[in-house]
Amino acid sequence: MMFSVSRSPFPIMSKSLSGLFVSIYLLCFSSGLSGSEDSITLSLKTDGNRTRYTLHRNSSLVINIINVPTSISAVTCQVHTQTGNLTLSEQPRVFFHNSITGKNIGLVIKLHNSESEKQVWLSNLNQEDVPVLIVITALDSFGPIPGGCNMEFPTEIAPYLRLKSDSLKVYLEFQHASFGSRRDEPPTKCSFSLPYVTYDIYVLFLEENDFGESEFFKKVEYMSNVSSIKEHSSKAKSYSLHPDTRFSFLLYPNLGVVYNVIAKFTLNNEIKESAYVPVVSYGCSSFDFTETGCRIKYSFKGKLFLFLISIFGFIVAFFGHSFISGVILFFGLLVSFFVGFILTGKYLSFSKESTAELSMVIGILGGIFFLFLWLWLRHPIILFLLNGFVFGFLISATIVYTPLDDCSRFIYCWLLCNAVIL
Ligand SMILES: *[C@@H]1O[C@H](CO)[C@@H](O)[C@H](O)[C@H]1NC(C)=O
Ligand SMILES: *[C@@H]1O[C@H](CO)[C@@H](O)[C@H](O)[C@H]1NC(C)=O
Ligand SMILES: *[C@@H]1O[C@H](CO)[C@@H](O)[C@H](O)[C@H]1NC(C)=O
Ligand SMILES: *[C@@H]1O[C@H](CO)[C@@H](O)[C@H](O)[C@H]1NC(C)=O
Repeated sequence: MMFSVSRSPFPIMSKSLSGLFVSIYLLCFSSGLSGSEDSITLSLKTDGNRTRYTLHRNSSLVINIINVPTSISAVTCQVHTQTGNLTLSEQPRVFFHNSITGKNIGLVIKLHNSESEKQVWLSNLNQEDVPVLIVITALDSFGPIPGGCNMEFPTEIAPYLRLKSDSLKVYLEFQHASFGSRRDEPPTKCSFSLPYVTYDIYVLFLEENDFGESEFFKKVEYMSNVSSIKEHSSKAKSYSLHPDTRFSFLLYPNLGVVYNVIAKFTLNNEIKESAYVPVVSYGCSSFDFTETGCRIKYSFKGKLFLFLISIFGFIVAFFGHSFISGVILFFGLLVSFFVGFILTGKYLSFSKESTAELSMVIGILGGIFFLFLWLWLRHPIILFLLNGFVFGFLISATIVYTPLDDCSRFIYCWLLCNAVIL
């Protein structure tokens, strides 16, 4: 309004003056959209920058990304929060296709022509103030663009990850990366880039029982760029040919885990890599900070079972030689419990409590079964097999959890496990 009125009386207004009017106009217009809108400026001097900020309730923030060199054709902007959902958008007005809502969110922002700055809008519709971590990273023009071949997520480019979980597992989902290109060059077709890009999944655990904000932000920051991911975390899996876009991990209740994916390919003998936007799971569906929010509750039955088992184990360990049947019962129970737990957990979809209870029943039945087998056959091989299995399982489990073996391939893990057991 103001712009069109001001323009007609001065048809030969100088360019810079009209530019001034345009910016005043834009300023009025954008601040009129919502009651309170703050702004921060992040300079992308070399390859990244970061900041912490507290976003007031029911407010929005303009993130100005400045000093982007013309050799950079795209930038990722990530926002992380522990508490409430936020919305990050490429335009001041939020639409489904230009924005992303969540706690670990990000967008890839493309630059055109000779632009050296861009704006992104972040809004907090929660009724409380939300502390956030904002990270911007330059994407190499010839490197992978995370989520550039998005098929399923709402935004055109989807550099963020999604977590789904059931009572035993966490499923990490991402979208395929594409080849980067120079500014305003048409992007390479995804059918062409797909076979060349491989993905590594990295995992970093938060301090146990530390649900605090500083631990959260520290570890998320570690996981937010390629070099720091490699320095601080461990590679969980890597996938190459026709990769899946969904990975599953065991769910550790009560333990915070940061996941991220690095996409890479080789161009002229040079490895090009870029990181997705990390995502955090606390191993429970609704994270709240109260005493009972995210704690595991061991049931009384479970505690009693473990208590009886340990007394039994104690007796077996010290007086086992004088009653072999007891030893057989004990190891038979352990073996059946393990096998039962793994099989029911994998093939039946019960809740965690029911799975544990069912495995206890299987364990007890298995123990009795082996006892009768022993009383019937009286063959020492039964004892050795059971004994060896438990001992082998213990050893291989120990090896798998040490840095000796990063268990990068699941099949390899199980082979190792079985070899040691045998
Ligand atoms: C939140 O902000 C919007 C726009 O400024 C306003 O209309 C709304 O009343 C605010 N809500 C609360 C609860 O403050
Ligand atoms: C990050 O951005 C701020 C604000 O523009 C700037 O003062 C600072 O130098 C930047 N840091 C880096 C490492 O570029
Ligand atoms: C990567 O993140 C680490 C940890 O936050 C930071 O020290 C480092 O400067 C970052 N590197 C780049 C290139 O942004
Ligand atoms: C946060 O956003 C996610 C994804 O959009 C949604 O599934 C979830 O219900 C939201 N949570 C809250 C508390 O609004």
